[in-house]
Amino acid sequence: MVTRSAVRGVGGYLPERIVTNADLAEVVETSDAWIQERTGIRERRRMGEGQAVSDMAVEAAKQALERAGRTAADVDLIIVATTTPDLTFPATAAIVQRKLGAPIGIAFDLQAVCSGFVYALSVADGFVARGLSRCALVIGAEAMSRLMDWTDRGTCVLFGDGAGAVVVEPEPGQGTTDDVGLLGFALRCDGNKQDLLYVDGGPSTTGAVGHLRMVGQQVFRHAVVNIAEAVEAAAANAGVPVAAVDWFIPHQANLRILHGVAHRLGVSEDKVISTVATHANTSAASIPLAMNAAVEDGRIKPGQLLLMEAMGGGLTWGACVLRL
Ligand code: UT7
Repeated sequence: MVTRSAVRGVGGYLPERIVTNADLAEVVETSDAWIQERTGIRERRRMGEGQAVSDMAVEAAKQALERAGRTAADVDLIIVATTTPDLTFPATAAIVQRKLGAPIGIAFDLQAVCSGFVYALSVADGFVARGLSRCALVIGAEAMSRLMDWTDRGTCVLFGDGAGAVVVEPEPGQGTTDDVGLLGFALRCDGNKQDLLYVDGGPSTTGAVGHLRMVGQQVFRHAVVNIAEAVEAAAANAGVPVAAVDWFIPHQANLRILHGVAHRLGVSEDKVISTVATHANTSAASIPLAMNAAVEDGRIKPGQLLLMEAMGGGLTWGACVLRL
């Protein structure tokens, strides 16, 4: 017998305000046609002026808890994967704990940018599988709109705001690939590639938040090649062939990357969950938001084998295999 970490409930939150490609064409020299053709993005959401990332995280968390049949009183671990925290400190997770009314427990943020949710799941797995948590909330929540340089058309059209969350709990398993729960991971970081994707500010350097900078084409190339390698490594770590996976839930950066990775792995596009058209790139929130959409519309069902993959600033990247 082994203890697995099972994903029990998923939730999502998108801010009300929709920003279309046409809206952005009024701000920078771009067009709906260019954005759709190069990225697959039609629109994205933008967090309201009075909102904070913790507010979005709380909404996603409440939905995930309800679907898991749990309440805030059950939560003993909160990990928020975010690159746009409410404050430099305390951790957004601590603010979420307070706003949810969860009891004293473990709460911290995890910073791995767009790979944050996959990294955070692996950290939660460590707590849950070792008996240190019985009800963990893993949340990806981002207000990427707050990092945009609204004069840079190469980046400002690509990102959106939102939050997604899952509840992770212990589940007895046999140690086989039929077990429900997190089955395998592959996590990577290459700090030498920092200059390809970063924010040009921070508390100990400029003292300001800064703006997102990206060498898009190089990040694109890196993504397709290296995500595919991490997917194969995570599948090997889980002990399953990539072909056995029912649904791919990729980080939603660019439709061409999603399809490029699928093609490289020999996976048919109809197994790939895609929300990039309406969510754009919500960084650490994008995977749980995509999972939430496909659970809500009935595509993803209990018992199925899922694969999540992501790549972002660091550069970080990684993949995770789980049975729901
Ligand atoms: O989550 C983190 C990971 N991030 C990513 O995965 C993003 C990876 N990169 C990409 O998705 C793509 O590289 C972009 C969508 C950012 C750019 O697409 P691309 O096909 O690589 O275009 P490009 O950078 O080669 O630019 C082609 C042309 C350029 O014009 P010239 O030099 O050919 O005249 C750009 O200036 O498109 C121009 N361009 C635009 N035109 C209209 C760049 N951005 C825009 C824009 N609207 N928004």
